Order: sequence, then C-alpha cells, then structure tokens
Amino acid sequence: MSKVFYRKYRPKFFQEIIAQEHIVKTLTNALASDILSQGYLFSGPRGSGKTTIARLFAKSLNCTDRAKGKFEPCDKCSSCLEINDSRSIDLIEIDAASHRGIDEIRELKEGIKFAPAKSKYKVFIIDESHQLTKEASNALLKTLEEPPSHAVFILATTEIHKMIPTIISRCQRFDFKRLKMAEVIKRLEIIAKKEKLQIEKPALELIALSSGGSLRDAETILDQTATFCSKDKITLKDLRELLGVVGLQKAAELVDALLAKDAKTAILLLGQVFEEGNDLTQFVSEIINYLHASLMFKIGGEDLHNPLTDGLSDEEFGKLKGQADKFQEGDLRKLLDLFLDAQNRMKSSPILQLPLELAIAEYCGIE
Ligand SMILES: Nc1ncnc2c1ncn2[C@@H]1O[C@H](COP(=O)(O)OP(=O)(O)O)[C@@H](O)[C@H]1O
Ligand SMILES: [Mg+2]
Ligand SMILES: [Zn+2]
Repeated sequence: MSKVFYRKYRPKFFQEIIAQEHIVKTLTNALASDILSQGYLFSGPRGSGKTTIARLFAKSLNCTDRAKGKFEPCDKCSSCLEINDSRSIDLIEIDAASHRGIDEIRELKEGIKFAPAKSKYKVFIIDESHQLTKEASNALLKTLEEPPSHAVFILATTEIHKMIPTIISRCQRFDFKRLKMAEVIKRLEIIAKKEKLQIEKPALELIALSSGGSLRDAETILDQTATFCSKDKITLKDLRELLGVVGLQKAAELVDALLAKDAKTAILLLGQVFEEGNDLTQFVSEIINYLHASLMFKIGGEDLHNPLTDGLSDEEFGKLKGQADKFQEGDLRKLLDLFLDAQNRMKSSPILQLPLELAIAEYCGIE
C-alpha cells in the first residue's frame, strides 16, 4: 500500500514549498551563490516545514548534478535518491526529543572529524534541539564554535525560548510561520487532486480548521478521510462524522430555541445531542463559535464574516444572518458570556450538561 500522505508528499523541490517565502529565498540564494553558514537554526510551530526544508537544503548541498548558480536538487543522482529514502550516510538526523542526545552528540563529536563518505558535506539535522541535555548542548556549542569545514548543522526547534543563547547566536536563525488556513487548503487541494480524491471545498476547510495550521496534521486527517470514506465525493457531513463534530446544524437549532426563549426545546435538544453519544464539550465549543460568528456579523456585517475561521458554508451563513438580525447585539454578548462561563464550569461539574442547562435557563428567563 501507499505511504502515508505526509511522507508521500514531502516536497522534493524548493518550488513545492508553501509559504515561508523569506526563508526559501535566503536559503536558495545561499545555495546558488555558494555562500554558506555552518550553523542554521529553524524555529517554528510543528508541521510548518522545518524538517522538510532542512532535508531539501541538505539534498541540494550534496547533489552531484546541481549546476553552478542553481539551487534545486536534481532528484535523480545517487545522493538525492539516498536522501529521499533516508539512507544517506552523510545526512545525520538526530532526534533530541527521544534520546536527549548525550550519546549522539558524543558520537557526533567523534564522527565529525572524518570527512564525508561520498558527498561534499556532512549535514547534521538536530530535531527538537531544545531538548538536548545541558552536557549535550555544551558539547554541541563547542562543535559549532569550531566546525570542520565539511560540516553543516541545521538545528530545528518548536521552543526557541528553551535554547541556550550561545547556541542561538552561533547560528543563522530562521523563524518559520504557522501556515494560514488558505495555505493549508491550497496544499490539501493539490494532494487531493493527485490522489484523485473528490472532496468538497467546505470539507477541506474543516480539515484545515481542525489542523490548527499544522500541515502534517492536515495531511494526516486527509489521509484518514481517504481511508475511511470510500465514496465518489466526500462531503462536509462525512468529515464532521469522521472528526466527531456535532455540526453547526445543531448549534443553529439551539440558537433558534434561544431566540424564541424556549428553554424546554433548547434543553431537549441538548439532551438529544448527549444521548446520541456526542461530546458535549465539543458541542459547547461549536455553540460558542456560532455565537461568535453571529456577534461579528451583528457588529460588522459581511466585513467581519470569515468562512475560514468560523467554518460556515454559504448556506449556514445565510441561516446565521437571519438569526443575527433578530437578536439585539446585547443578547448575543450575554449569550456568549453565559456559554463561555458554562464551558469553564463543565470542567468541574459533577453533571456534565448542568452548566449548559443553567446557561439556557438563565438566558430564557431574562425578560
Ligand atoms: N511549508 C510547507 N510546504 C509544503 N509542505 C509542507 C510545508 N510544511 C509542512 N509540509 C508538509 O507537512 C509534512 C510535515 O512537515 P515537516 O517539515 O516535517 O514539519 P516540521 O518539521 O516543521 O514539524 C511534510 O512532509 C509536508 O508534506
Ligand atoms: Mg520536524
Ligand atoms: Zn542530485
């Protein structure tokens, strides 16, 4: 069977990288002009491309068919192929998270003296480098102070504030940005197309929303979707089921009952959502999200409508507009206060749904 998406679609060329433009530009210029640092530091959130770009950089550095002045790897020479398959002996990847690194750094200090076996450079990628022990960090620092000319270090970290400043100052630093929803969607669309996966745009939007900007997580959800939904066209509804999202439909119905100040209907609906085995903590987040979008519409009309952050399809937004027109702005603020409060109280309530029922009863009891 095929490889998981995030491995299968790890970019093989710089041109496939999404966002991180300033980083790609600086690194590709360095490659083209052959002006290199020996230490690079990649900091940024998970799934933003640190490992991908580190490997690409190593690949270009050691590509034997890369023409002068060019920066893309050929992706065909034996060095490129070895790096693609993670079997290059001149690309050493150390995961500081799993070993904390003492032995590795010791080996590194030994091994680094020897010239690369086949390639021009020995490239060391040290992932989650903030997790190195103090001893390992100090050993690394020594190496960074006087690296042999054939060595290039790329340190990656999700928590730069935990790195020792002397290491940071030894490296050329790059701050990776969290990917925007639109960028995640763009990449998912490319993959879906290659996989011949028919999937509605709102479904892709929901994946992007759930991934929190990590392309790796987004690709993993898409992968699961492809595995579990063997249908011609994957819909938003399929995705909501897969992710266990109750759905805005139910939030909208609840808001209808609140508009009518009909506590009984609202509480019955809540009970039904609960009985169906849904996660009420997730549902309360969806209600809050919905009320938030309503309030923004009330305040700023379409200008404050953002389908990518509120996750509403056009149809759903149409429904929300109708409701928002009927509310006073103060009602929506009050509702948000009540539900945010309920969300907090659910964490310690002996009866999970009670804080929500209280919020509903309180709002409906207001004259
Ligand atoms: N900027 C990006 N452009 C294209 N694909 C990306 C990007 N960032 C992440 N990816 C995708 O997500 C996967 C995981 O990214 P990775 O580089 O391992 O993230 P990190 O090391 O920052 O946690 C990659 O295999 C790739 O498919
Ligand atoms: Mg990584
Ligand atoms: Zn090559």
